[in-house]
Amino acid sequence: MSSTEAQHGDEIVRVENVVKDFRSGFGLRKKRVLHGISFSVRQGEIFGFVGPNGAGKTTTLKILMGLIRSSGGSASILGHDVRETAFRKHIGFLPENPSFYDFLTGREILTFYAKLSGVSGSQRAERVATLLKWVGLTQAADSRLRTYSKGMLQRVGIAQALVHEPSVVFLDEPMSGLDPIGRVEIRDLILRLRAEGKTVFMNTHILPDVEMVCDRVAIIVQGCIRYQGDTQELLVEGERETELVAAGLSAHSVVDLEERFAARLRGLGDRIELRFAEKNTDEMIRAVLDSGGRVVSVAPQRASLESLFLSAVENAEAPESGSALTGMGEVE
Ligand SMILES: Nc1ncnc2c1ncn2[C@@H]1O[C@H](COP(=O)(O)OP(=O)(O)OP(=O)(O)O)[C@@H](O)[C@H]1O
Ligand SMILES: [Mg+2]
Repeated sequence: MSSTEAQHGDEIVRVENVVKDFRSGFGLRKKRVLHGISFSVRQGEIFGFVGPNGAGKTTTLKILMGLIRSSGGSASILGHDVRETAFRKHIGFLPENPSFYDFLTGREILTFYAKLSGVSGSQRAERVATLLKWVGLTQAADSRLRTYSKGMLQRVGIAQALVHEPSVVFLDEPMSGLDPIGRVEIRDLILRLRAEGKTVFMNTHILPDVEMVCDRVAIIVQGCIRYQGDTQELLVEGERETELVAAGLSAHSVVDLEERFAARLRGLGDRIELRFAEKNTDEMIRAVLDSGGRVVSVAPQRASLESLFLSAVENAEAPESGSALTGMGEVE
């Protein structure tokens, strides 16, 4: 750990009551896109900043990267106000839609970035070769970027963010637009960053990826943080569900069970799958049997981040009804 990191302990990123107003349109009307958000990122974790399109993720990241100024509040990285510049050598950044000079090869573009970020001439070739290997592009190193697939370009983007050996890496949607194999590759790279002791901040809306890689998350909806906490706790604390498969039920009974237990239905040929709150499991089994049906299987389901995410979004749309997520963690 460097001396800069030691001064502020465990907190690598700290965002406090950050507000952002954009002025746009005729008469430059003010539009508030961040409503006083607060969160922190700890040393050595993979932190997921999660939210739907337009929630304010990229805006927040641009503020952290010093690309735009906040309209209020404070933000610091490694104990330094984000408006300072000297500490930037400790951070790496993958922008949302990176674009590269595509007439260059992978090796050339990384050499270019290594030069820009001050890697000395004598170390450059070796550093670039190490990075190419690290992101799995050694074979393609001397092909032009215009021949690269999207997954390969994303790996170039990640290599670019690591060229100067930063201790904190910020990634804006690192897995978007990738096929499942590309996603797995990038996911493994991110996990390796953590294994090397780096702190990773990533913006994303791909929830299965969040479940797989992120230690902690903050959910942002319409410029407000709706939840912040440990990913596993979020999943455990969320409402659990049961999946029951039944056979031999009449259409009338199915509709009745659906309504009584607020169940979600899926037809499986002559069987029916019902999903409902775990606490109603005994009663549901009894009801299926009483209706003349058979219980084929009963399986507990872990609440998915997706359902929690959707409830955070729904609650944001109706704030007066209160948040189901409130009280689950360190809500802002
Ligand atoms: N320069 C700008 N001027 C005006 N409004 C802006 C500007 N940049 C972003 N916004 C608005 O701020 C809001 C948040 O945008 P932002 O790009 O931060 O969202 P996001 O969470 O990154 O979404 P996505 O998942 O689509 O990338 C949006 O309503 C967007 O239209
Ligand atoms: Mg974005």
